[in-house]
Amino acid sequence: MKKINLGVLVSGGGTNLQSIIDSIAAGKMDATIQVIISNIPGVRSLERARKHDIPAVVIDHERFATREDFDREMVSVLKAHHVDLVVMAGFMRILTPVLLKAFPLKIINIHPALLPSFQGLHVQEKAFDYGVKFSGCTVHFVDEGVDTGPIIIQAVVPVYGDDTAEMLQQRILEEEHRIYPQAIQLYAEGRLEVTGRKVRVQNPRPMEASSLHNPPLEKF
Ligand code: GAR
Repeated sequence: MKKINLGVLVSGGGTNLQSIIDSIAAGKMDATIQVIISNIPGVRSLERARKHDIPAVVIDHERFATREDFDREMVSVLKAHHVDLVVMAGFMRILTPVLLKAFPLKIINIHPALLPSFQGLHVQEKAFDYGVKFSGCTVHFVDEGVDTGPIIIQAVVPVYGDDTAEMLQQRILEEEHRIYPQAIQLYAEGRLEVTGRKVRVQNPRPMEASSLHNPPLEKF
């Protein structure tokens, strides 16, 4: 199968980036990372890029007068590396139409909550403080809104009675590392059909559970 070219956008530690690098190295993905772009200098993601010999570029957003100027620079780097799919992996910037129009339905994001609940930042803690019994993570196409685009895949993660917000965050992150490579591979295989808000996955495996309960049901 033809490999797709990824451009990965990061702002921090890059454990999701690492899960993609590892899945590619394990031969599980029909993709190569052509370029990694960080909007922040000196982050751990850049070390990961060096270690794996992947081209990395810092585009410091503080050097640009407007969000549009920043996005124009990103478009030019992504195009120069022949990127087919833009993967936001802990990238903490809102995109403008400049980038969205250059890559229509070709930008995906991972969010550490079950969208549309808990959009925005620090959402693992917000979900924990709210007292939800399940949270999780979502991979979605990016549109003009914040965390609003068509949903590709979600993982549900239970909140246990003796959890802390940090424990929940860690459990969600482990699922992020599974669903992001899966979403990219579905895209690479051309199995995602987008109609309006709905993303249909062609030939999915059957679901294992028809429902989940937390706490578990007893007599009912
Ligand atoms: C991840 O939990 C990701 O879902 C989240 O930032 C973390 C990045 O971790 N993204 C957002 O909150 C986007 N709004 P990583 O750098 O270790 O992949």
